[in-house]
Amino acid sequence: MAKQGKLKTGVHRPLPHDSAAKHVSGEALYTDDLPEPPGLLHAAFGMSARPHARIVSLDLAPVRKAPGVVAVMAAGDVPGDNNCAPVMHDDPIFAGGLVEYVGQSIFAVAAGTVEQARRAARLARIEYEDLPAILTAEAALEAKTFVLPPHTMKRGEPKKAIAKAKHRLKGRIKVGGQDQFYLEGHIAMAVPGEDRDVTVYSSTQNPSEVQHLVAEALGLASNAVTLEIRRMGGAFGGKETQPALYACIAALLADKTGRPVKARVDRDDDMGMTGKRHDFVIDYDVGYDDKGRIKGIEFMQAARCGMSADLSAAIADRAMFHADNAYYLPAARIVSHRCKTNTVSNTAFRGFGGPQGMVGIEQVIDEIARDLGLDPLDVRRANLYGGTPGNRGRDVTPYHMTVEDNILPKLLDDLEKTSDYRARRREIDGYNATSPVLKRGIALTPVKFGISFTTSHLNQAGALIHVYTDGSVHLNHGGTEMGQGLFVKVAQVVAEEFQIDLDRIKITATNTGKVPNTSATAASSGSDMNGMAARAAARTIKERLTAFAADAFDCTKSEVVFQNNRVRVGRKTLSFKELVRAAYLGRVSLSATGYYRTPKIHYDRKKAAGRPFYYFAYGAAVTEAVIDTLTGEYRFPRVDILHDVGQSLNPAIDLGQIEGGFLQGLGWLTMEELYWNADGALATHAPSTYKIPTASDWPEAFDVRIFDRGRNREPTVHRSKAVGEPPLMLAISGFLAIKDALAAACGHQVSPPLDAPATPEAVLMTLEAMRARLGGGESLREAAE
Ligand code: MTE
Ligand code: HPA
Ligand code: MOS
Repeated sequence: MAKQGKLKTGVHRPLPHDSAAKHVSGEALYTDDLPEPPGLLHAAFGMSARPHARIVSLDLAPVRKAPGVVAVMAAGDVPGDNNCAPVMHDDPIFAGGLVEYVGQSIFAVAAGTVEQARRAARLARIEYEDLPAILTAEAALEAKTFVLPPHTMKRGEPKKAIAKAKHRLKGRIKVGGQDQFYLEGHIAMAVPGEDRDVTVYSSTQNPSEVQHLVAEALGLASNAVTLEIRRMGGAFGGKETQPALYACIAALLADKTGRPVKARVDRDDDMGMTGKRHDFVIDYDVGYDDKGRIKGIEFMQAARCGMSADLSAAIADRAMFHADNAYYLPAARIVSHRCKTNTVSNTAFRGFGGPQGMVGIEQVIDEIARDLGLDPLDVRRANLYGGTPGNRGRDVTPYHMTVEDNILPKLLDDLEKTSDYRARRREIDGYNATSPVLKRGIALTPVKFGISFTTSHLNQAGALIHVYTDGSVHLNHGGTEMGQGLFVKVAQVVAEEFQIDLDRIKITATNTGKVPNTSATAASSGSDMNGMAARAAARTIKERLTAFAADAFDCTKSEVVFQNNRVRVGRKTLSFKELVRAAYLGRVSLSATGYYRTPKIHYDRKKAAGRPFYYFAYGAAVTEAVIDTLTGEYRFPRVDILHDVGQSLNPAIDLGQIEGGFLQGLGWLTMEELYWNADGALATHAPSTYKIPTASDWPEAFDVRIFDRGRNREPTVHRSKAVGEPPLMLAISGFLAIKDALAAACGHQVSPPLDAPATPEAVLMTLEAMRARLGGGESLREAAE
């Protein structure tokens, strides 16, 4: 067999994204690029101008009379269920008597052109009777308005443990939200068929859910609706539930007019109408010993959910699941409040609550270190989980799951060395002692992120594979492509299984008619689950081919070996294509479905105990920051990352995910600031006022490495690990590096009262607050001079 060589396009190879060239040449087709069917109408929305109000009257006559308008629909016109909520039935497609946020959809209009539709939508005459609006989590806590009941996780007796501990501190940190800012905004195109059937092209991470909600809105069975999505221009969680509104409206208008309808929003409306990362208020109360080891801790997490539940139950839960991050908390209570506010309903965003939970504990560790005058890295190390076999005792999480795969001690040893952390800390101290204006800071933070949907039943996936008689393969599965490289990874898995080149495999659009009842591509589990489902389908076909070949050429099945585009059958060698052709003539089925469900997981939410995660993904980052104490501006001169992806399915894709995730996290914690004005309107609704990272924010020295000893302890697909979300949380090191530099600016005498995002403005104001606390009364500028 040696002669046949090794397959060059299977798993573990750093292959480019299948659409990389098409992405840059512009040939990749997004939903808005699909050829437009004749008679296409364009939809526009009528939206609420008030955060909380009763609609006293709604006069749509001027809209109907406007040029080009073909149809107008509002709450009373929905033939089925006026709802597009994923879980709780609390998101109407069209608000009826009550509006609950600025930007909420009240009606939709279909017209001949986008321009006509948008002009017409502005002509509605709406009278409101305003009601009191609650805009922040703190206001909601005070008013006791919640979208869902509170939830508690508890292990041990934290109150007693805190009281008994030698040291104690309490505090509060606020963590901001984040807009997903995908390049491609929300869009759907619905094409009506016969018998009221409809095909919907929707930019969604969750085709099955959109299919089901469209069917319910139309009052039809799910089999009347087909969803298709080839790719999204980014999603980041923002398309896990939110696409349903646009798909429902396009389908409703298509059903009503009998014509195809496209619903697309521009950036300002997209930002105003769609949910974002939840901002949090986190209170902590912690007891610890001289080494900074936590003895007991209590967290209160309050999440701003917006006007409805959306995915907030699972998101707020995931924040609780990550309140420990990588640290053993011997006694802990985590109380979570799901605050109802008159703002857009917040939703999934990369990390799904996990990042907010982690900021809480990393802040606590940082505060402990500052209180005791220790290096935060030493306090981190002192609190790490044991969590490896043979190291029992410090390995149980606050939700009573045993950590079995902790590789952080090894990973931190490696990163501490390659980043030169200790020497740089000393060098930075020396620099700060003599630099009056510029101050530097450094922080190393770890990540431990739980992999699996915590809603256990979502951990299932399906695939469909056809092999054609020329030996080419049609690959389909329930996962969606949003730029993360899922499709090429799954194709590599199938190439590996059949031992054929990747270019023999056609990657195809996700379609509910091919693979039904799928979960959202989310929770970073896309390749874990769809990779396994596709492998199962390929194995079924391969087993049939093997049995056929053994029979046809009179050898045992173990003598049939697939390798590098050829199949050895006893003493004969055939091409893959020849075997397939022969099997077809021998009447062997060349099509199969595959299915996978994640093993081992279970969770009892009432008891807040179980094994919600199949395994954990780990990583760590060292970030250095330098701040200008006169302006609050800062830079990140150097970032070192070491991240574990198990045995990478595709190291090129995974590196891209690590770099991109980190930078997106840095955006969240340092520059992206959402601001709602007193009237409840989002003032930061465009790139003019909302700053996301760009190429120029790339750290000056950026060393990103995949942990070379990574191997999933669980038998995941080729022992790989999920990579989509975990690296985002590496950016907490950037936030804490700024905090470290701030502390240095005041001679490490005051702990910086810094909330996220640490915008330059926030950095400057924090400095002022620290100076005031020091009592000198001298302004920053005087101090610097
Ligand atoms: N990468 C790109 N380029 N675009 C995206 O929209 N979404 C992230 C992550 N990486 C995203 C991305 C999120 S929120 C998740 S959950 C995962 O990809 C989903 O894909 P996966 O499960 O295949 O990793
Ligand atoms: N992650 C992402 N999406 C989800 C989850 C989760 O844990 N649970 C439900 N939807
Ligand atoms: Mo990702 S937030 O789970 O879509």
